[in-house]
Amino acid sequence: MNRSRALRLLAGLSVLAAAACGGDEPPAKPPTPSPLPAATPVPAPGGAATAPGVPAAAPVPTRPMFESAAQCGECHKAIWAEWKASFHGQAMTDPHFLKLSDGLKQEECIRCHAPVPLREMDNWETPIARADRREDAVSCLSCHQSGGNVAGTRGLPGPCRPVKDPDQSDPTKVCFTCHNQHKTGEEWLAGPYAPDAPEPRQVERKTCLDCHMPYVERPLVEGGVPRRSRRHTWPGGHDMAQLRRAAKLEVETTPVEGGTRIRTWLTNVGAGHNIPSDARHRSFDVYVKVWDEEGRVVLDPLDPDPTKQSRAQTAKYRLQYRNSSLPDTQVPPLARVSGLGGWKGTVDVPVARGRGEAWLVYRLTPEDALVAGSLAEGPYTMNVARRVSVIEFTFGGR
Ligand code: HEC
Ligand code: HEC
Ligand code: HEC
Ligand code: HEC
Ligand code: HEC
Repeated sequence: MNRSRALRLLAGLSVLAAAACGGDEPPAKPPTPSPLPAATPVPAPGGAATAPGVPAAAPVPTRPMFESAAQCGECHKAIWAEWKASFHGQAMTDPHFLKLSDGLKQEECIRCHAPVPLREMDNWETPIARADRREDAVSCLSCHQSGGNVAGTRGLPGPCRPVKDPDQSDPTKVCFTCHNQHKTGEEWLAGPYAPDAPEPRQVERKTCLDCHMPYVERPLVEGGVPRRSRRHTWPGGHDMAQLRRAAKLEVETTPVEGGTRIRTWLTNVGAGHNIPSDARHRSFDVYVKVWDEEGRVVLDPLDPDPTKQSRAQTAKYRLQYRNSSLPDTQVPPLARVSGLGGWKGTVDVPVARGRGEAWLVYRLTPEDALVAGSLAEGPYTMNVARRVSVIEFTFGGR
């Protein structure tokens, strides 16, 4: 079948379903992907620049020297290890994804989680599902393959046939393709970190790469020359250090009839886009724990009684599911907010003096419960919310 026609056809079909992610809506009827066209023969891996027996004037290859992420990893060991542990490397094994895609049965979901190379898509838009090596998820080849070459920013010589391509550092191409379905890309472009943000700037310019692929000085291959290059870690909602960078909490207390009003404030100090991101199941939640003068607990975010637990909550920040009638309460870059949507941003306690803590809690999905395990510092456990930060306060003075 004619390749570009097949691609256009697929692209056309999938535009209809472009907005389905996260399982909050049934996806449109999935397009059946056609198998990729026969690849040009790929020589065995091992670093030879040309396969034995291929004459020098062989036609320009349309497939790269290497076909799987593991092959790239034979030379680019450090980058491979970071990628493998990242959520790009895990996009096809992530338990939330397995659950919401019916154990990968929903073909429509594969497009962005195991796509063909971005450069094979019309105009860097509308990812298409790969027919093979889906276990490689968002693979090295998805982002780097350019016909028979790999795209880089320098044009170094190397056995993987690198070519210099400025598109490789352009986030509107290399990140937006998949992330602008969730509007993360547009939010960044419209926000204070964008290259074109109005002067005077509120903050310095930062791209997706600056915050999610930080610079590191190291060789690209073992034994190579150290180069200022980028980490392949993409920290996001699973990464505690990144979550801590995103938001700052503040508390204000005022005496009211019969007690004290506690107001919490949250500022998006560190994300170049709304927080939480546009994955609709995410939320940042704010709770307060309060003790009276005698040290008795008045409000407890870990109260096993759900009604009492929710009394300790002042705010919930999230983008709602599309079928929800609740207002969206995401926090744009640099915005400082308290009550939003139905949330007042406050709780009243019937004591005049005491002390307290405000907790910032992050949920990857609404099923994540706030329990004792939420205070542990370790990695994310399924269905357990995580406490990101705590600030202490006193009220009532003397
Ligand atoms: C046989 C070893 C080997 C394999 C396998 C390999 N590479 Fe490379 N790659 C290199 C070397 C060597 C360089 C140049 C390093 C240097 O000069 O610092 C390089 C450079 C690069 C660059 C930087 C190019 C630039 O100019 O900025 C990219 C990107 C790259 N490789 C991607 C890949 C990808 C993707 C794969 C798998 C499809 C891969 N490589 C497989 C050895 C390899
Ligand atoms: C247009 C590209 C695209 C399609 C199609 C897509 N996703 Fe995603 N998905 C993404 C991106 C990008 C992210 C990361 C978004 C973020 O965190 O802001 C993501 C994240 C997720 C997550 C969050 C993973 C976690 O650890 O919590 C789940 C679950 C998910 N997708 C499920 C699905 C399901 C189910 C489908 C099919 C109905 C689907 N996706 C289709 C791009 C896509
Ligand atoms: C081919 C599609 C695709 C491209 C291109 C892509 N991503 Fe992703 N990204 C995803 C998917 C899918 C996920 C969600 C994986 C999951 O958790 O299941 C994701 C997750 C993430 C996460 C969240 C990690 C976490 O902790 O949940 C960050 C941050 C991220 N991507 C940043 C980037 C940046 C920056 C770029 C550009 C350099 C980029 N992505 C390019 C598809 C893509
Ligand atoms: C989600 C897209 C994405 C994936 C997946 C990805 N890369 Fe990259 N890679 C990039 C971007 C973006 C750059 C940096 C361009 C820049 O420096 O501006 C880069 C840079 C590189 C470089 C050059 C070093 C540097 O920072 O300039 C090498 C080598 C490389 N990648 C290899 C790999 C290998 C090997 C894999 C798989 C194990 C991989 N990449 C997976 C997007 C990706
Ligand atoms: C100024 C730094 C900064 C910039 C610029 C930035 N981000 Fe982020 N990003 C963050 C921080 C901090 C978080 C953690 C907060 C969160 O997960 O909501 C985050 C979270 C994310 C997540 C994870 C959300 C999740 O649900 O796990 C994705 C995906 C993401 N960013 C993609 C992007 C993309 C794509 C761009 C460029 C269009 C970008 N970011 C630009 C700082 C930044």
